[in-house]
Amino acid sequence: MRKKVTVVGGGNVGATAAQRIAERDYADVVLVDVVEGMPQGKALDLAQSGPVLGYDSAVTGANSYETTANSDIVVITAGIARRPGMTRDDLLRTNMGIMDSVVSEVVANSPDSILLIVSNPLDAMVYHAHKLSGFPKERVVGMAGVLDTARMRTFIAQELNVSVEDVNAYVLGGHGDTMVPLVRYTTVGGIPLENWLPKDRVEAIVQRTRDGGGEIVSLLKTGSAFYAPSAAVLQMVDSILLDKRRIVPAAAYLDGEYGVSGVFIGVPVILGENGVEKVIELELTDEEQAGFQKSLEAVNELVEAMANLG
Ligand code: NAI
Ligand code: 2OP
Repeated sequence: MRKKVTVVGGGNVGATAAQRIAERDYADVVLVDVVEGMPQGKALDLAQSGPVLGYDSAVTGANSYETTANSDIVVITAGIARRPGMTRDDLLRTNMGIMDSVVSEVVANSPDSILLIVSNPLDAMVYHAHKLSGFPKERVVGMAGVLDTARMRTFIAQELNVSVEDVNAYVLGGHGDTMVPLVRYTTVGGIPLENWLPKDRVEAIVQRTRDGGGEIVSLLKTGSAFYAPSAAVLQMVDSILLDKRRIVPAAAYLDGEYGVSGVFIGVPVILGENGVEKVIELELTDEEQAGFQKSLEAVNELVEAMANLG
């Protein structure tokens, strides 16, 4: 029997993720959104791409959750972006409310699923989804690190004129300004990045990675990135449903690792059929540890703000 993936939120990231997953041809996809007709229309359009592209995945659109029953993975992309005049707390309150309604439906209909959270602010939303779901920590994970490292890999490959496939990068911490691109663990063809580029170029790439989401928002003007985010979702879905056990950076629950407990933040993990199979602990220098601590504080601030709102 085919695997089943539900994607909640049929906007830019959700619809493109649904497309990418359907095209893999090993899972059926249900796309859910609150906008009437939209997920149904996009799903029909995606299903009609099957004969041309050669996939048989069933793609269904819905405004409710019956058809999502017994999904293996539920990807949650529902949420709004911050609008002019909106405070951080307004955004948190709105997206927490969306997460409340979505997660309760998901838990009722797919109690054994793995939740893959995409909605922002990412680390806070993963924390909230985990709390609401009551799922074990292994079955709730957030997508950000694959995207952030993909950005860093792109910039490095462009700078060195080499294949992106030969660039490996690590980014730790929260998905935001405080993320910690780990230069020491970044390699090109297995050779440390610092052997390839002078310090100032490395620093410029690190900064561009940190600003990666904002760079695209300022170009698009009416939305945020979705091609690379949906590609990152696909890599995580593949790793789980095909039990590939890829080592990827993802927002995972820390239970003593890195000296931290009770928070979701970006760290390298092994992703397999049970979700987060293992959190990998990297040795950090004092400077890297300080960067991680700063990022942790930023994530904790959001978690506390949610508790006060909530
Ligand atoms: P979008 O605005 O295109 O789509 C969001 C969709 O969510 C809309 O279609 C909306 O109708 C839907 N929605 C709202 N409330 C809902 C509910 N209760 N149930 C079901 N659907 C609901 O936004 P886009 O570009 O797809 O981004 C989605 C989210 O992902 C945003 O929060 C964005 O900031 C975040 N994001 C996170 C990334 C990451 O690295 N973690 C990367 C890119 C985006
Ligand atoms: C990004 O990094 C908006 O979180 C989103 O593109």
